[in-house]
Amino acid sequence: MAYTRKDVSTLTAAERRRFVKALLEVKRRGEYDEFVRMHIEYYVSDGEGGLRTAHMAPSFLPWHRRFLLELEKALRRVDSSVTLPYWDWTRDRTPTSAPWTADLLGGNGRRSDLQVTTGPFAYATGDWTIKDGVTDRRFLTRDLGRARDPIDLPKQSDLEWALADPVYDTSPWDSTVTRGFRNKLEGWGSGRGSTAWRNHNRVHRWVGGVMVGGASVNDPVFWLHHAFIDLLWTRWQRRHREHRYLPAGPPAAGTRPHGRVVARHEKLPPWDVTPDQLEDVGGIYRYA
Ligand code: CU
Ligand code: CU
Repeated sequence: MAYTRKDVSTLTAAERRRFVKALLEVKRRGEYDEFVRMHIEYYVSDGEGGLRTAHMAPSFLPWHRRFLLELEKALRRVDSSVTLPYWDWTRDRTPTSAPWTADLLGGNGRRSDLQVTTGPFAYATGDWTIKDGVTDRRFLTRDLGRARDPIDLPKQSDLEWALADPVYDTSPWDSTVTRGFRNKLEGWGSGRGSTAWRNHNRVHRWVGGVMVGGASVNDPVFWLHHAFIDLLWTRWQRRHREHRYLPAGPPAAGTRPHGRVVARHEKLPPWDVTPDQLEDVGGIYRYA
């Protein structure tokens, strides 16, 4: 039977405790840092050659869907009652609301060095030492709202702009496309400064610290953020039932995106699974 992923603000005290405990155990076992490394490895951008799977590509959504399922499996091996909660940042919009409480992910980083000093993932607990990062800092960092150059979280209207687009994605299937649900949600925009960061990308920026860049998995909020992104994909699917993942087939030889993106029935590295197989996960989990 399918299990349920809940809004993090609705978790009971016991559910919060079990979720945090399972995360810490996955970290203790060394499995968590493998997820960090995998995400760094698959952080390939438009400017680089080769296949793009996780970001700046149509498979942004199925890649992270599978990535979340793998972490969730690891959590459920520890405690089978645990599922990934999601953070609805259109509702919980302040640095003190869920999930930034002491019984969940802890709060903002301190001013001097952005180090998170509260909650279960504070460096001083000894349970959350960063092994693989973009910098050699070993502690978790956050800069909620980006104090020096404030940025706000995306609003419901920003999401609506993405959800209303009936086309999943469009050629050249990268960070430059201005139409299609995928990039409107992933959030690569044009222009300077914070207006260029939309929806998914903007939330990474709003959290700041390690959440900016390839090592973002080091902040456990990564999973809650991406669970909400995954939920939004299911909402888009429900709203546009006649539309599906694109491209349906590989881009033609000789065109720019050839060999750079994963088509609907092609394997999505590093897994033996296709975007087509990841479109319907209703048999595994649902969102409350
Ligand atoms: Cu990612
Ligand atoms: Cu992300």
